[in-house]
Order: sequence, then C-alpha cells, then structure tokens
Amino acid sequence: MSAMQKMIGWIDDRFPLTVTWKAHLSEYYAPKNFNFWYFFGSLALLVLVNQIFTGIFLTMNYKPDTLLAFGSVEYIMRDVDWGWLIRYMHSVGASMFFVVVYLHMFRGLIYGSYRKPRELVWIFGMMIYLALMAEAFMGYLLPWGQMSFWGAQVIISLFGAIPVIGDALSTWIRGDFVVSDATLNRFFAFHVIAIPLVLLGLVVAHIIALHEVGSNNPEGIEIKKVKDPVTHIPLDGIPFHPYYTVKDIVGVVVFLMVFSAIIFFAPEMGGWFLEPDNFIPANPMKTPPHIVPLWYFTPFYALLRAVPNKLFGVIGMGAAVLIITFLPWLDRAKAKSIRYRGPIYKTFLTLFVISFVGLGYLGTKEPTPVHTAFARIFGTIYFAFFLLMPLYTSIEKTKPVPERIPE
Ligand code: HEM
Repeated sequence: MSAMQKMIGWIDDRFPLTVTWKAHLSEYYAPKNFNFWYFFGSLALLVLVNQIFTGIFLTMNYKPDTLLAFGSVEYIMRDVDWGWLIRYMHSVGASMFFVVVYLHMFRGLIYGSYRKPRELVWIFGMMIYLALMAEAFMGYLLPWGQMSFWGAQVIISLFGAIPVIGDALSTWIRGDFVVSDATLNRFFAFHVIAIPLVLLGLVVAHIIALHEVGSNNPEGIEIKKVKDPVTHIPLDGIPFHPYYTVKDIVGVVVFLMVFSAIIFFAPEMGGWFLEPDNFIPANPMKTPPHIVPLWYFTPFYALLRAVPNKLFGVIGMGAAVLIITFLPWLDRAKAKSIRYRGPIYKTFLTLFVISFVGLGYLGTKEPTPVHTAFARIFGTIYFAFFLLMPLYTSIEKTKPVPERIPE
C-alpha cells in the first residue's frame, strides 16, 4: 500500500472522502449523450467562483460610503495593482453570469429538464435566479454612479405602488426617505455576504437534488429505467469523471477565451455591461434623461413600462418572473425533449424566445408609443406561452420516445 493510499485510508476512517468522490463523480452515472447545452451548469459554477474570488479583492479597497464609494472604484481602476483587471473580471463576470444562466435555463425549456422528477432542481434553480437578480441589483448601487443611484431609486420606489404599506415599505428598504448612505451600507452588506451565502447554499441544494434523481438529457429519456441486471448501472450512463470532467474543461477553455476577449478588448461592451452614465458620480439633484437597468433586467423592465397602471405593472413584472417556476406543472406533454414534440410547442417556444429578446431590446429604448405597442404584444405572447401551455401541450401529439438513447 502506497503512502498516498494509506493517507486516503486514514481520512476515509474519519471523513467520507472516497464515498463522496464515488457517489458524485467517479461512480455517478450521467447520460452518455450530453451536448453543447450541458456546458452551462459547470460554467455557472465557474462564474460563481470568479465573482466570489474577485469580489473579495474588490472589497479590500472599496469604501461603502456615499462620499468615498465612487472615488474608491476609480482608485481600484487606476492605482491598485491589477485593480482594473479584478474590477473588469467582476463587472464582466456579472453579465456573463446572466448569459450563462439564461442559456442554462433555455436548455431546461428545450429538453423539458424541469419535468418530473426534477421539479425541485427547477425550483432551487428559480430561487438561485431570484437571488442572482437581488445580488446584481444591490451590487450595481455600490459604484455610486448616476445609474447606480437612479436605478435603485426607481426600483425601490416601485414598492410604493403596493396599497397601504407601500410607502412605509420603500422607506424601510432604503433606511431613509431617499437612496442614501444607509441604503448603500445595507446593500453592501447584502451584496458581499448575505446573498452570496444564500446563493452558495442554494447551488449546493440544486446539485444535491439533481444527483438524487440524475440528469435529464437531449433525448428526454430516463436512463435509470434501463439498468444492467448485475451491476445496476444505467446502460446509457457513463461515469461523470473522467468523461464529463474532461468535456467540461473544453467548455471552460472556450468560455475563458470569450471572457478574456471581452475583459481585454471591450469591458464595457459598448454600454451593455457598464453603462456610460455610471462613469458620472451619483447626483441626487440631477435625474439622467434615460434611466435603464442593465440588459439582463430589461425584458422585465419593458413589461413594467408596458402596463399603464403602476401597481399592475409591478404585479405583471413579478408574475413574469414567478410564472417560470410553475413550468413543471404547466407542461402536460407526453415527451420531455423538443426532439419528440410537435410543431405547436416549437412555434410557441420560438415566439416566446422572440418576445423575451424583443422585450429585452425594448427595455433599453425610450417608451415611445410604437415601442410600448410592441412591448404589449411581446408581453401578451410571453404570458400566453405559459398560461396556454396546459392546453397546447396536452392536445399536441408527440412522437413515441424510445426506451434507450439512440446511437
Ligand atoms: C448559480 C447558478 C447555477 C448553477 C451554478 C447551476 C449549476 C448546475 C449544474 C452544475 C448542473 C448540472 C450540469 C448541467 O446540467 O448543466 C445543473 C443542472 C440543472 N440546472 Fe442549474 N445551476 C444554476 C442555475 C439554474 C437556474 C437559474 C435554473 C432554472 C431556473 C437551473 C435549472 C437546472 C436544471 C433543470 C438542471 C438539470 C438539467 C438536466 O438534467 O437536463 N439552474 N445546474
């Protein structure tokens, strides 16, 4: 027995190291047909680690004080060794987090990954998505630029639309009658510790739930249904390690190429990842002509503006996010994967994607009458996709799903 084996044996007697390694990696059997769309879970993990790591170093020089915050970010960019890199890795990382998570969620839609038995994987995913939105929103206040201040002012005042308690609630969230030092301090506390802790816990729960039931795949076939009678290993499964650890490294390399290209050549992405107005220090006396959140919030922002009544706008925006959680119960189709579904589902999904992207675009534009009309059409399609789903998925005939993953 080698020294290494002895040491692992010593640890195993005191901690379930080998058992955990086997259960989640070397003897965890994943479907053999994962494709491109299965890169984004591990990439989301990578970005999460990047945000935490760069966030720690930003916190070492950032000052959560309305008089110092803007200047401390400039100090990081100009004077702190490698500060510009750490800051851009964090700000570009925030947008890339949403790119990766949106693609990860879209995979769920095309392959029906939210369906039984993965409802909890989906619910934990939606909780992650909500936490991520809160994390990004609060992080955006920290540089204390014009858009930080006015964006927070607009979004927090939305709570004011709630009858009776609205005004008191928004004052309570701000800790003041306007966005102020108290707001900046509490957002800092939530952004650097409270929400990251919640996010980490949710990601662990997400993966534990996934490993309990096993992954879905592009065919939407349950590989656990056909096992080897002797070894009880799914016949269409392969060990996660080394097969998918190696495959995921390929995804990581390609991702890092794109990520670095953005960081080094276009860190602001023409205003999409860092808005021009945020290079101006916050000025509570001067409202920018055009207040817009970053791109990942604009689909919901467009919905909010499309509704004439403020309260209903807020309800509509909230409903647009929450309704995604109910997909496991809205979808009644016999087949999970798009590969076995008919043209009605495919048409609805295509229209849904066009509407979501369309709303995202409109959310960045001024609400002219034409833009508002389009936002209403897209908003209607967005909700129709979900609300009519029980109907169109139950009437549509699906192709028969085979028992085994086809060669
Ligand atoms: C920090 C964010 C997230 C991380 C780190 C994460 C991580 C992962 C990982 C590592 C996997 C397994 C690999 C894969 O299937 O790609 C996975 C699967 C999955 N995730 Fe996430 N996830 C995140 C957010 C979300 C969100 C927001 C949703 C949806 C609302 C979601 C829904 C799912 C589903 C349904 C699966 C199973 C997919 C299948 O088996 O086909 N995840 N996630």
